[in-house]
Amino acid sequence: MNIVAIANQKGGCGKTTTAINLAAGLGEKGLRTLLVDADPQGHASLGLGQRKQDKRGLYEVLALDFPLAEAIIMNVTVGVDLLPATISLAAVEHVLADMPKHEPQLADHLQTVESIYDFVIIDCPPSLNLLSISAIRAANRVIVPIDMSLFAIDGIEHLSEAVDSLSQEYGLDIEINILPTLVDRCTRLCREFLLGIWERYRENILPSPIHNTVRLKEAACAGQPILHFDKASIATRDYQGLTDEIIRRSTDEKSTVQAEASWLINCIDVIAQSLTLSSPTATANTKENNHPTSISEKNNCSDTLHRVELTYKNYINRNLKLAGEFNNWIPDEGIETIQKNNTVHKIFFAPAGEYQYRLIIDGKWRNDPTNPDQILNPLGVHNSMLHVGR
Ligand SMILES: Nc1ncnc2c1ncn2[C@@H]1O[C@H](COP(=O)(O)OP(=O)(O)OP(=O)(O)O)[C@@H](O)[C@H]1O
Ligand SMILES: [Mg+2]
Repeated sequence: MNIVAIANQKGGCGKTTTAINLAAGLGEKGLRTLLVDADPQGHASLGLGQRKQDKRGLYEVLALDFPLAEAIIMNVTVGVDLLPATISLAAVEHVLADMPKHEPQLADHLQTVESIYDFVIIDCPPSLNLLSISAIRAANRVIVPIDMSLFAIDGIEHLSEAVDSLSQEYGLDIEINILPTLVDRCTRLCREFLLGIWERYRENILPSPIHNTVRLKEAACAGQPILHFDKASIATRDYQGLTDEIIRRSTDEKSTVQAEASWLINCIDVIAQSLTLSSPTATANTKENNHPTSISEKNNCSDTLHRVELTYKNYINRNLKLAGEFNNWIPDEGIETIQKNNTVHKIFFAPAGEYQYRLIIDGKWRNDPTNPDQILNPLGVHNSMLHVGR
């Protein structure tokens, strides 16, 4: 039985939405799935049209030792059963704090349904309290949704520390996966966050980001998972991608490693692609003077956004900026600059497409001398052309 906790102490970053829609995706694929609502707000229950306060739920299981199997509501959506939360769950913190170590914990209660379910998905509350800790302790995977904000990213650090210390204390093997949510690839800020997350946590990021779409809010209001509410929605596709990825990672470690490796190298749709262009001109330039030397594109972290990296040798002491259709021709807007080993790296994210661009070298607009691909613009001047994701 695979137990997946969805956790981040940052509120509103898409934990419940992910828990509901991942559970529904797994259920739809014929995998027997239990969704555990471990948030006293009871949003996972509410989002599936279940808000019956007279029901028994997780509180009764943890505090009163009520048999977990008897508190489950069957078939709340196709292939998914629910262990609901009621408002009394808010009181469980005191119970957990006073609970002697030998008393059954959430992990022990879940073992009683091990033969019934393939997956358990736990929706955690927005804090790193004892309820979250007991969920993480029960899990073999923690998905951390991050909504492209500093506070959500901050949550990763705290969670990683908690997971590390729990793993050490109890000898557990818990995998952490980061899931970008509420992704709006059109905004510069979002692209910058994606870049920052990629640079820092590249081994942990799931290659299945969730786009920002109002259809998810509407589905929650209707008490349905997105895949039953609107099959054609981009969110249905996103959560199907996440479901496939979690199944792959949970069932076949070898293919996981391959998928990760190929994701780093190739990234079109869910998997990435990489391509490197180096022109003869570029090589000649390196020898002659301080011209840029190569262009490389590496797509990476999203199904539609591609990581682009342009590298220029021997430009360390020059003022080198990049402007083009990908950043509204604002020099270095949304571009990360890294200087190392006598090479300037210009890095940004852009959707697949063709982009005109130019370099600004010491204040002067120039075509990219390493790139023979140029186009005549309406002003009669040539611009360099960049092909992303092709
Ligand atoms: N990808 C998305 N696009 C648009 N809206 C979204 C998306 N994901 C979640 N939402 C909406 O954002 C709000 C918060 O989402 P959700 O409840 O899943 O977050 P949460 O992390 O569980 O919050 P909390 O910390 O309060 O438990 C909800 O109204 C939800 O419908
Ligand atoms: Mg929630």
